Amino acid sequence: MFIFKSPPPLSLYIHVPWCIRKCPYCDFNSHAAADDLPEDAYIDALLSDLDSELPAVWGRTIQTVFIGGGTPSLLSGNAIDRLLSGVRARLPLKPDIEITLEANPGSAEQERFAAYRDAGVTRLSIGVQSFADSSLQALGRVHDSNEALRAARAARQAGFDKINLDLMFGLPAQTVEQALADLQTAISLTPGHLSWYQLTLEPNTLFHAQPPILPDDDAKWEIQQAGQSLLSAEGYTQYEVSAYASGGNRCRHNLNYWRFGDYIGIGAGAHGKITDGGHGVVTRRWKTRHPRHYLASAGCDSCIDGERQLDAGTAIFEFALNHLRLNDGFHLDAFESASGLSRERLLPFVQAAVTAGLLTQQGDHIRHTETGWRFLDDLVACFMPEESEHAGDGKH
Ligand SMILES: C[S@@+](CC[C@H](N)C(=O)[O-])C[C@H]1O[C@@H](n2cnc3c(N)ncnc32)[C@H](O)[C@@H]1O
Ligand code: SF4
Repeated sequence: MFIFKSPPPLSLYIHVPWCIRKCPYCDFNSHAAADDLPEDAYIDALLSDLDSELPAVWGRTIQTVFIGGGTPSLLSGNAIDRLLSGVRARLPLKPDIEITLEANPGSAEQERFAAYRDAGVTRLSIGVQSFADSSLQALGRVHDSNEALRAARAARQAGFDKINLDLMFGLPAQTVEQALADLQTAISLTPGHLSWYQLTLEPNTLFHAQPPILPDDDAKWEIQQAGQSLLSAEGYTQYEVSAYASGGNRCRHNLNYWRFGDYIGIGAGAHGKITDGGHGVVTRRWKTRHPRHYLASAGCDSCIDGERQLDAGTAIFEFALNHLRLNDGFHLDAFESASGLSRERLLPFVQAAVTAGLLTQQGDHIRHTETGWRFLDDLVACFMPEESEHAGDGKH
């Protein structure tokens, strides 16, 4: 039975679906941009889309905003200002709100970053991927290593003290030494946050159809172990599979996803998850993916590409899928407040994972073992409902 009292914290995700060109490994909803981006029309569409979401979140305060993509840094400072002013006019924002914007070094300049800051952006996330020109070329990136360095410095000079750098490892022909050199360079730029992803070959990408030669599993494991030691020695604590932060710099927006919090999703292909506390219903909803169709339909019913209410089995699975990515595990009362289900529904799954040596339970605190952390997919599979209705999360 669902037992909702009050819904979980609420975030806002805003998707910008254009990039300078499509990277061959990327399965995000991003499309090569024409020269004249319809940015005014897109901001209007985003705000109409937000208007249509308001009845579902009446009276609730937004804790974090994430403007992701695609490449949001293709938008001008004016466009971001109009967007955030429109958001503020429609929804109450938490006073010390975190507002992140994703930037690509190929479209980064100090003046533009300063305008984003003036508009209210508090955190920049820069997609560096690597500081080695050979790796950047192999990844089909539009920027070189100098531009990546310049972007990180420009963010600091524009006054941002919350900066994330995205790096990937396990790149074509990459050695352990090269992967560590990328991390060293990133650390020398003193970002408070580093996202360090292993390159994956996603279906429907060029790399999936024509796979490059990647380091083998042993080499990737060696890179991961050495990189984690380096990050830890430099004061970066791993708090999620791919996320490392120094001091109080954990990403509050992503933490809300991983804790199975609520979020409104606006923009082409954006996904949302909203809990109706009164009726104990969790609804996922996603918008039409193609920018042209989105522009024509935002705010109307035809903009909604799909919607589904989570049954109990799916809610348990999705809670585990997200929460088990976090280093510090979870408490059973967090399960009850985020899923609206009683702990008795979860415990048989936990017990099976404990018996398999993948989880430990101390009182109400559930955490993975070392084996569970290494074989996270096996651990998450322990929470799979018997008749799965899981259709993929498809976050931004
Ligand atoms: C949605 S992308 C947006 C960032 C920005 N567009 C850019 O690429 O500079 C966020 C991050 O996901 C990571 N990413 C994208 N595709 C990936 C893949 N196939 N494997 C691992 N990480 C990936 C990259 O590090 C990227 O910076
Ligand atoms: S990785 Fe980033 S820049 Fe490249 S296509 Fe995907 S969203 Fe765009």
